[in-house]
Amino acid sequence: MCSIIAYASCNGSDVSSILLDSLSLLEYRGYDSVGIAVLNDSSIIVRKGVGNVKDVNRKHRLEELVGSIGIGHTRWATHGSISDLNAHPHTSCDGRIAVVHNGIIDNYLELREGMLKDHSFKSETDSEVIAHMLEQLLSRHKDIKDAMVTLLRLLHGSYAFVALLNDGTLVGSRYNEPLIVGVVSSANNNLYYYAIKDEEDNRYNDLFCSSCFISSDVLAFIKYTDKAIFLSNGEFFILRPIKDGYRLSIYDTEGNKISKQITQIAWELSSYVIDKGKYAHYTLKEIHEQEYTIARALCSKINHEFITRLIDAKRVIVIGSGSSYNASLYAKHLLARVGVNVDACIASEVRYSISIDSNDVLLAISQSGETADLLDAVRYAKSKGCKILSIVNVNTSSLARESDYFTSINAGPEIGVAATKSFTAQLAVIYKVASLIARENNNYDYSIYYDSLGSAISKGIKDIIAKENILSSIADTIKGVNDIYVIGKGINHIIALEGALKLKELAYIHAEAINAGELKHGPLALIDNSRNSAVIALNVKDHTYKDVINNVKEVKARGGYVIGISDCYEYKECYDVMLNLPSIYDVNTNCNSVDTISYESLAYPIYQCIPLQLLAYNIAVKRDYNPDYPRNIAKSVTVT
Ligand code: AGP
Repeated sequence: MCSIIAYASCNGSDVSSILLDSLSLLEYRGYDSVGIAVLNDSSIIVRKGVGNVKDVNRKHRLEELVGSIGIGHTRWATHGSISDLNAHPHTSCDGRIAVVHNGIIDNYLELREGMLKDHSFKSETDSEVIAHMLEQLLSRHKDIKDAMVTLLRLLHGSYAFVALLNDGTLVGSRYNEPLIVGVVSSANNNLYYYAIKDEEDNRYNDLFCSSCFISSDVLAFIKYTDKAIFLSNGEFFILRPIKDGYRLSIYDTEGNKISKQITQIAWELSSYVIDKGKYAHYTLKEIHEQEYTIARALCSKINHEFITRLIDAKRVIVIGSGSSYNASLYAKHLLARVGVNVDACIASEVRYSISIDSNDVLLAISQSGETADLLDAVRYAKSKGCKILSIVNVNTSSLARESDYFTSINAGPEIGVAATKSFTAQLAVIYKVASLIARENNNYDYSIYYDSLGSAISKGIKDIIAKENILSSIADTIKGVNDIYVIGKGINHIIALEGALKLKELAYIHAEAINAGELKHGPLALIDNSRNSAVIALNVKDHTYKDVINNVKEVKARGGYVIGISDCYEYKECYDVMLNLPSIYDVNTNCNSVDTISYESLAYPIYQCIPLQLLAYNIAVKRDYNPDYPRNIAKSVTVT
């Protein structure tokens, strides 16, 4: 999962700084290496290297490249090691074509050893074949459109790519990877676009653009324009320089010109300020934003059809990956409580471990809406006649556009690779969905309830965040351990899973969520007094409290080091250290509980989740890791 950006500017202004600015916003998609290529006169200049945008720019002075058309890329290595040669852009033998690619070309070796055997390859990557294919097909067809049609027939796999040709033309296409065109119009910069007639078919399919972006994510150009064209699978575009601007043409896989709708991107996204502000990292900023994002998620609009589809379904299958899978387990827990026949499944397992039919409803949960495992499962379920509902954070994502109904968690862009505010906002929306199902039979307006619940929980979060210094000292105590076991029971075990995931991906610690009751059936053997491991007990004052205290005592009896996260002092002495959570009763005083779904089932999971996020963050910082861009992973996993 790499990121792609291309920009063709008007009136010849240089593009490199704009390309770099966009790449730094897309870096969450991959940060192994970075590169840009710009057209200067009719030569394509490429500069690239290993590292993140800031480091590579400092070392290779990318921003000094001069040219008004360019492409850029940040890489998450799949094929070929992390090296300068494997960094994108890749060029053709004659250097007249440069390509940036996201995805995996499955048949790249066949192409290399077959029709491209006379080409000299500089990298180990699958992506480089696209540059050589275009070079070969252009010399055969002499026309870029025909070359693209043949290329798309020959390429197998998942891809989004943009190629820069030395005559100033940009071409690109997508298959199962996102690719979006941003058309710019701003009166004060004299930037505009309009439909132009195509002499060939006398129809107004083409667009004149004074300048134009192409990217993997609207985030890359949202500050310049909120007008986007989402390419569908198999479609390709050609952007040709013409007088005072560019002609944008879009074609289907067969090369027939098509007209595409221009989508207005939601103002929320365009008004969102994407910078760390006073925070050291996006991750910390996003953890603190939960003071507002959960209340906002509780006010999300949920389409009535979304609720009735869940109620009427023979079975609901909730799917997700990573943190979104943990949210799926939370959904299973709550939906079962309101009488829904529900199951949860890891997205990448759907094809292998669950039988689906047309009476089932698939509820897909995803922050990015671009996770390949999940989109693959959605397309599989669709092929079985399943209705698709989804809960997303990116309303313009492939998942939202391929769903029958979707609900947004409205958490705003999440840049930190680790899901934090998106996870708790997912819990809030799932809680609202379950409570609406519970209420479906008596049409009472509960908006006040969600408002007061939201503000009560926000107050509790404020209290927890104010205790960050305690978490920082706990982090100091355990930053040297090799293993952390997070124990909890019932719904709290789901938060233990999420906490363990944060400790893995942020602090690189082997962390495991253990259902507290299972300790004595084996895992207790891992406990000793060596201080090479620690146990975190999620022990709130709900119906699991007493049981978990007994499990804590079992650990203490073997000399284990226990951190208690709880809102109850009754057995405080059982823990080596306790983080005291705000009283759940503060929530209750402000609003009436909801029949079968008590406010506890939202407040407790959220109150336990945030200390775990802050602990993982603090350990990462103390271990000198970059919490925003953990090694080896990236934000949206667009390869299966
Ligand atoms: C969680 O912190 C990770 N970033 C990762 O597990 C993530 O939850 C997973 O890749 C799913 O992403 P999605 O919600 O965008 O589909």
